[in-house]
Amino acid sequence: MTSPAARLYAALHEVACDNDSARMRAGLAHGDYTSAETLALEDERIFQRSWVCLGHEADIGEPGDYAVEAILDHEVLLIRGDDGAVRAFHNVCRHRGHAVAAGCGNARWLTCPYHAWTYASDGSLFYAPHAADVAGFDQATLGLRPIRLETVAGALFVSLDADGPSFEDCYPGLRAEIETWAPSPEEMELVYQSPLRHEANWKASVENFSECYHCGPVHKYLTGNIIDPDSYQVSAAGLVQRHIVGGRDPSMIQRLWHVWPNTAMGLYPLPGVGLVWCIRHMYPRTVAESTYHYRWYATGEQPVDAIREYALHHETTTGAEDAAVVAGAQRGMRGDPAATNMLVCNPAHGVGSEHAIAYFHDLVRVARETP
Ligand code: FES
Ligand SMILES: [Fe+2]
Repeated sequence: MTSPAARLYAALHEVACDNDSARMRAGLAHGDYTSAETLALEDERIFQRSWVCLGHEADIGEPGDYAVEAILDHEVLLIRGDDGAVRAFHNVCRHRGHAVAAGCGNARWLTCPYHAWTYASDGSLFYAPHAADVAGFDQATLGLRPIRLETVAGALFVSLDADGPSFEDCYPGLRAEIETWAPSPEEMELVYQSPLRHEANWKASVENFSECYHCGPVHKYLTGNIIDPDSYQVSAAGLVQRHIVGGRDPSMIQRLWHVWPNTAMGLYPLPGVGLVWCIRHMYPRTVAESTYHYRWYATGEQPVDAIREYALHHETTTGAEDAAVVAGAQRGMRGDPAATNMLVCNPAHGVGSEHAIAYFHDLVRVARETP
């Protein structure tokens, strides 16, 4: 029997993006952004089956470094073991289910706050108080439950389906393509992160990434100082969007990949700094809230302070501008759930085209219909 993730990816690969036609397309209904039942279905059929990026190897660089991230209700513990390997586990105590860790930090042992079951950095159960001489206590089988993890240019992708296909099977050739452009993971250092709150459904956050039609009206600083909107190219195929954008400084070409369903990464131009690696996660939280989480990375020769300064500026300009418009769209859609998104698809006019959203909507529809 095929795994749910295998069924999902097989169905999604039947969907093609129209990267040629200039035509209006009907997108998802507004009610798709405001229905808790729809989010529950997307949790089951998208987030529990797809590869989702939760960070980067550099975020947990030392043995014992850990971070907890959430895919809706599913908390994932990422931890680097004493052997240097990064692993992912359900952040769920094997005793009676309390979360084992919270936030991020460094620890030799992780002790559950409830009854102090204690786990090693490889996930194995190290100690459970007063249990050793209890009949049936089998310590070796009571480690944290592992989650599948693969890296792409150091980015940590997890899949909650234990039996699903590999990242390579789901996105053929993508890892090699990205690794052609990415700095080597050992060189990367996390210099800034901003988890921006979007008062909007996660799909609205993805869509906001997927077009630059809004860039003229919304992002005056970005279009005036960083990118050349007229150079914008976007195309999509094989569950991946590719954005290539010239900079105001012509030597700085932005290259971004959006990987189904909610991760983007790539080279972003910063004035006075050069190209920096940036990962963006569009995490769903509730039906009407998502986290648009930026993580900025520097390599050895790059000026960390200047990157931090620019990333903070980006947060208060482009980031805040996007947060405002997606929240406005969410409010509007709540008021008229029966209406449908109307998408302006005109791939030849890259900056003004929403064909990547039309593709994303087709993928979402197929995913939701795949049992
Ligand atoms: S729930 Fe973790 S020790 Fe009891
Ligand atoms: Fe934007």
